[in-house]
Amino acid sequence: MQKLRHAVNGLSGSLRGPSDKSITHRALILGSLAQGQTYIKQPLASADITSTMNALRSLGVKFTVQAAGTIVVDSPGMANFARPENLVLDMGNSGTSTRLLAGVFAGLDLPVTMTGDASLSTRPMQRIITPLTNLGAEIQSVDGHLPLTISRGIQAQPIKFTLPLGSAQVKNTVLLAGLVAGVATTITDDFGTRDHTEQMLPAFGVTLEQVDNTFTIPDGQKLQATEIEVPADISAAAFWLVAGTIVPKSVIKLTKVNVNQTRAGILKVLNQMGATIKQQTIAAAEPMANLEIMAQPSLQPVKITAADVPTMIDELPIIALAATQANGQTIISGAQELAVKETNRITTVTTELKKLGADITATYDGFIINGPTNLAVAAPTTVDGHGDHRIAMMLSIAALITAGEVNLVDPESVVISYPTFFEDLEHLTQQA
Ligand code: S3P
Repeated sequence: MQKLRHAVNGLSGSLRGPSDKSITHRALILGSLAQGQTYIKQPLASADITSTMNALRSLGVKFTVQAAGTIVVDSPGMANFARPENLVLDMGNSGTSTRLLAGVFAGLDLPVTMTGDASLSTRPMQRIITPLTNLGAEIQSVDGHLPLTISRGIQAQPIKFTLPLGSAQVKNTVLLAGLVAGVATTITDDFGTRDHTEQMLPAFGVTLEQVDNTFTIPDGQKLQATEIEVPADISAAAFWLVAGTIVPKSVIKLTKVNVNQTRAGILKVLNQMGATIKQQTIAAAEPMANLEIMAQPSLQPVKITAADVPTMIDELPIIALAATQANGQTIISGAQELAVKETNRITTVTTELKKLGADITATYDGFIINGPTNLAVAAPTTVDGHGDHRIAMMLSIAALITAGEVNLVDPESVVISYPTFFEDLEHLTQQA
C-alpha cells in the first residue's frame, strides 16, 4: 500500500521517459534470430522485457548489458538455436512476449509449453491458436488459455493472412512464424495496428514490400545482426501528457518520445480536447519528438470510436482520467479489447475512478464520462491497481488532483513497463 501524493504546485521539469516496450521486445526477438551481435541502445528494462529475454536465453542467446545500458544480443542465429527437450517457459505477466514468441516457436517447429501469472492465464490465446493451427501447427491449451503447448510447428507453405481483429500481437505471431519458417508471408492489417516490426525489419536486412494495408516478406529471408536505438515510449509518456494537462500550474518536457503514427493517437485526442502540447519532431528510423505540455484548465470532451482505438489502446485508461476534467460528455466506444488486457480495464478504470468521485459509466465497449468533476474523497480511500501497471499509474496521476487521502494497493506493478515511475513523479513534483 502506498499513500499517493498531491501536486499542489503543479509538475515541472524535463525527462526522457522509459524506452518503448513494444520496440524493445521486437529488437530482442529479431536480434536473437540474427546470427552474431546485435546492439540495442537504450532498451527498456522491465519485468515484461525480462520475460522475453529469459525465453530467448533458453534457445542459446546471450545478453550482456554494457555500461551505457546498451544490450548486446549474442546469438548463434535461428538455424543454430538450442532445442531443449520438454521446454517450459514462464512468460510472467507479458502478453506480448507470449504471443510474439509463440509465433517464433511455431515457425521453428520447436516444442514448448508456455505458462504465465494469474492475469496472463486469463487472457485469450485462441486468437493466436487459430491462425497457427490453420498453418498446420498443433497446439494444446486450456480452453484457449495458458498453459499453452505447441507440440508441432507450422508446416512450410506461403502464408496469406488477413488480421481478423485490431491486435498487433496477433499480426506479429503470424509474421514471426512465417519469417522464421522462411516462407513467403503476406499480411493485411486494415486496423492500422502498431507497425514497429515492419519498420525494424529492413535494418536487419529483411525485404518487406508494402502496398496499402498489405505487406509481404518474401521467402528465405536471412536476418543480419545490426544496431537498434529504442526511443522513449509514448504509452509511458502518456501519463505525463495527461498529468501536465490536468494538474494546474504544470509545465513538463518529455524528450525523444516515439510518435509513430500507429501509436500517437493520444496526441491527436489531447489536441482535440484543447490541451497545450508543443511538438518538435526529430527525424529517425521511427519518428521521435520532444514534447512540451502546459496545464490547460479548460478541456473539451471528445468522441473516440473503433477506428481510433488501435493507435491509443494502452492509453485509454489515462485518457478516461483526462475526460473527467473535460467540459461535457466524452464517449469512448469500439474499445472492447480493453476487457482482455492485464485486467478488464473497462471495469477496473470505472470502479477505481468512481471511488474518487468521477462520473464514469462502463459500457460493453468503452466508457461514458461526464465532466468536469472535482475529484475528491471524504475520508481516506484505498484504490486498487488490481496488479495492472497502467491502472496503478493512472490512479497515481488521478490522486495528484484529488482532494483528500488516497492510498494505492499494488504500486509495485509499475515494474511491468515503468519501474522508475514513482521516482520520475517525485522528480517532477520536487522541482515545482
Ligand atoms: C502490443 C500490442 C497491443 C498492446 C500491448 C503491446 C505489442 O496489444 O496493448 O501493450 O507490442 O504488439 P494487442 O496487439 O493485443 O492489442
